[in-house]
Amino acid sequence: QTIHLKDYTPFGYRIDSVELTFKLHPTATRVISKIAFAPNPAASDTRFFLHGEELELISAAIDGAPVIPRKVEGGIEADVPDAPFVWEAEVEISPETNTALEGLYMSNGMYSTQCEAEGFRKITFYPDRPDVMAVFTVRIEGDQPVLLSNGNPVERGDGVAVWHDPWPKPSYLFALVAGELINHPDSFTTKSGKEVELNIWVRPGDEDKCAFGMEALKKSMKWDEDTYGREYDLDIFNIVAVDDFNMGAMENKGLNIFNSSCVLASQATSTDANFERIEGIIAHEYFHNWTGNRITCRDWFQLCLKEGLTVYRDQMFSGDMRSHAVKRIEEVMILRARQFREDNGPLAHPVRPESFVEINNFYTATVYEKGAEIIGMLRRLIGDEAYRKGCDLYFDRHDGEAVTIEDWLASFEEVTGRDLAQFKQWYSQAGTPRLKMSETWEDGALTLNFTQTTPPTPGQKEKNPQVIPIAVGLIGPNGDEVVPTTVLEMTEAEQSFTFEGLGARPVASVLRDFSAPVILEREIDDATRAFLLAHDTDPFQTWEMGRMLAKDTLIAMIVRDAAPAPAYLDAIRAVVTDETQDPAFRALVFGLPSQDDLAQTLFDAGITPDPQKIYDARESLRHTVARHLSDALPTLFRPTEPGTFTPDAEGSGRRSLSLAALSYLALLDGGAAATSLFAQADNMTEQAGALQALLSAGLGTSELQAFEAQWKDDRLVMDKWFTMQVASAAPDKAAEVAEALSHHPAFTNKNPNRFRAVFGALSANHAGFHHASGAAYKLLADQLISLDSLNPQITARMSGAFETWKRYDADRQGMIRTELERILATPNLSRDTTEMVSRILSA
Ligand code: ARG
Ligand code: ZN
Repeated sequence: QTIHLKDYTPFGYRIDSVELTFKLHPTATRVISKIAFAPNPAASDTRFFLHGEELELISAAIDGAPVIPRKVEGGIEADVPDAPFVWEAEVEISPETNTALEGLYMSNGMYSTQCEAEGFRKITFYPDRPDVMAVFTVRIEGDQPVLLSNGNPVERGDGVAVWHDPWPKPSYLFALVAGELINHPDSFTTKSGKEVELNIWVRPGDEDKCAFGMEALKKSMKWDEDTYGREYDLDIFNIVAVDDFNMGAMENKGLNIFNSSCVLASQATSTDANFERIEGIIAHEYFHNWTGNRITCRDWFQLCLKEGLTVYRDQMFSGDMRSHAVKRIEEVMILRARQFREDNGPLAHPVRPESFVEINNFYTATVYEKGAEIIGMLRRLIGDEAYRKGCDLYFDRHDGEAVTIEDWLASFEEVTGRDLAQFKQWYSQAGTPRLKMSETWEDGALTLNFTQTTPPTPGQKEKNPQVIPIAVGLIGPNGDEVVPTTVLEMTEAEQSFTFEGLGARPVASVLRDFSAPVILEREIDDATRAFLLAHDTDPFQTWEMGRMLAKDTLIAMIVRDAAPAPAYLDAIRAVVTDETQDPAFRALVFGLPSQDDLAQTLFDAGITPDPQKIYDARESLRHTVARHLSDALPTLFRPTEPGTFTPDAEGSGRRSLSLAALSYLALLDGGAAATSLFAQADNMTEQAGALQALLSAGLGTSELQAFEAQWKDDRLVMDKWFTMQVASAAPDKAAEVAEALSHHPAFTNKNPNRFRAVFGALSANHAGFHHASGAAYKLLADQLISLDSLNPQITARMSGAFETWKRYDADRQGMIRTELERILATPNLSRDTTEMVSRILSA
C-alpha cells in the first residue's frame, strides 16, 4: 500500500530507554528487549503498534505481566496503560538465512546489520520510524572475539560486551557487528581537547588496506570542525568493512558499516578512482553524525534533508582535499548521467517525494544528487556567510530532533530575512528545467533573455517557474574577462538581464560552475565555443564547450554520416597538449560523451536513437582522434615511475591523462604500449587501465587470463575483472559474455558487488544492452527474477536499467515490455521490485 507525506502523525508514545540483549546464533539468535514507553502528549493517535517482520515471538510482557499481542499487518498491537510502562519481549531471528542483507545478517561468518531505512523491524518489535528517538544500551553475547555496537563501550568480558549510546537516536541508526576482526587503530583529538579512539575493523588479511581510509577519517573530522564547527561526540568511532552490503556504506551512530569496496584501499588493488571514492564516502558517513544523526528526519519523505545536505558537504570536502574544478566537472557528469536520466523517464520524482510504496526505492540520484544541488543553489543565492549562520542556527535549534525540510529552510529565512517559499519548489517539483537563452546587443548593452519551462513528469503535469541562480561572466573580444562572475536570480517564466556600458560586444559565459541543475539551450556556434574553450576563466564552462563540440560532432556523424568536425579535433588538441593546464582537467576534456548521453540527446531532438549507430560513430571518432593526435600521444602517455605512486589528486590527474592517451594509442600501436604497462605497473590504476585499453582495442586475451591468475583470491579486484569484460564486450557479444561469466565459479548473486560487477556492467554497456536481438534484455530479466526472492533491494534497483525504454524504437520497446511484464508476473515478487517495475511500465 502507498504511504503519503500528508498523512504524517506522531507516534503515541515516547521512549525513555531501550535495553537490548543479543544471544548470537547463526540460525537462532535471541533478541531480548526492554523498552520504557510513556504516552506522548503531542500525539492524538494512542494506538500501540510496533513494527515487526520475520520475527518469531517467544514471549512478551507489559510491566512484568505476560501479554499476547495481536498480530496485525506489518507488526503487532497491544493494550497498554495510559501512563509510563515497560515493554519486554524476546524474539528469535535467523541471520544466516537472511540474504536480503537487511536487519541482522551474516556475511563470511561475521554478523552485521543494516537497518536504514526499515530493517530494525526485522530485529525486534519496535516503533521503527525515525521520529522516535531513544537512548540505547546493548548487550551482546557471542563467542566472536570482536563484539561491537553503537556508542561507548561500558563492559567487556569473555563472550560478552555491553555498549551504551548516550545520544538519542532512531532505530535506523542501530548497528551490531560480531566476528573475527582485526583493527587498524588510531586516535583524533577534537578541537576542545577530547581524545577519540578510532578503529577500522576488517577481516584478517585486509589489515594492510586500512591506512588510507583512516587518514580520510581524520581529515573529515578536522574539516567538519573547521568548516561547520561540528565536533565528534563519543569516546570512540568504529568503522567496519563488510563484503556483502547492499549500498556503499551506513552512518550508524559511532559504528559506521561499509561495503568493503568503499573502505579497503591499497596501491596494488585500488584504482585512483577507488581512492577518491573511498575518501568521499568515509567523509559522507562521518558528516552524517551531525546531518542525519544528531538531527534526523521526521519521516522518510524528508530523506533529502540528511542525504542532499550530506552529499553537498562531502562534495565540498573532496573539492578542498583535491581540486574544486575537477570535482565539479565530475559531479555534473554524474548528475547528468543518473539524475537527468531519472528525471527524463517514468521514475522521475521530486527531491522530497509525496508518496511511496517501498522507501528503499527512493535512495535515488534525485534525492542524493539533486538534493545536493539544491543546497549549492541556496548557498549561492544567500552567500557563504549567511549559509554558515543558517547552518549554525539549524544545528542549535534542532539538535536531538527529527525534523523536516520546512525546519531546515526556516533557519535560512530567519538569518537572511528572505522568503524561501518559491525556492522550496525545488523540493516538490520533479523534472529538469529547460532554460533557453537568447541575446540582444545594442548601444554597448548586452541583454540576456531567458525563458524556463519544466516538462511534465509522472503525476505532475503543470510546473511553476523555479528560482534559478544563473552565474554569468562576460569575456571581451580580446579574451579578457570584462565582467567577472555575477549571479542572476531568475524567478519568472521569462526574464531578461542587461549588462550596460560595454565597449565591444563580449561573449557571455553562462551557467558557470553549473550553478543550477537545468538544461541550458543556447544558440552558439562552433567558433564561439572554441573561443570560450580557450579564454573562459571558469573551468566548468571550458570543459562544457569542449563537451558540446564533441557531442555535436558525434550527433552529426550519427544522423548525417558527417565527418568529425575539424573545430572539435583542433580544440581538443589545443587543450590536451597544453602543458600549463592541470592534467586531470585535460583528461576530462579528452573523454567523449557516453552512448547513453547521446541516446538521450537524440531522443530530445525528436530522433529515435539507434544504439548500434551511436556505438559505431563513437568508435569511429575514437579512431579519428587517435590518428589526429598520433604525434602527441606518445608524450602524453607517461607511466608512473615504479615506486613513486601516491593516491593524491596530483598523481591521479597525471595517470588519468596518461591512460586516456594510452587508450587512443592502443588503437594505433597494436597494443604495444599497453601490453608493456600491464606487465610493469606497480599499481592497480595502471594495471587495470592498461588492460582496459587493450580490451577496448579488441586485444588483451592473455592479459585477462594473467589478471585472473594474479587476483583470483581478491574479491574486490575480481569484481573489476568481471566488469571490464562485460563493459568492453562488442554490442553483439555483451549478453553472451555476461551469461558466460554468470557461470564462472567465482560468480554469485548473493554478493551484491559481484552481481553488479556483471549485470550492472551489462546494463551500462549501452549498445550491448540494447542490442537488436533483445538477448541482454532477456538475460537481465532472468537474473532479476531469480535474484528477487534473495535480495529485493538490489533487484529493484537494477530494474532501473529499463527506465529509458521509451526512447527506443517499437521493436525494442516491445521486447522490453515483454520482459518487464514477465518480471511483474513472477509469483511472490517483492514489494520493492513490484513498485519499480510498475512505475517503469506506467510510462
Ligand atoms: N544512509 C546511507 C548513506 O547514504 C545509505 C543507506 C541506504 N540504505 C538503504 N537500504 N536504502 O550514507
Ligand atoms: Zn548518506
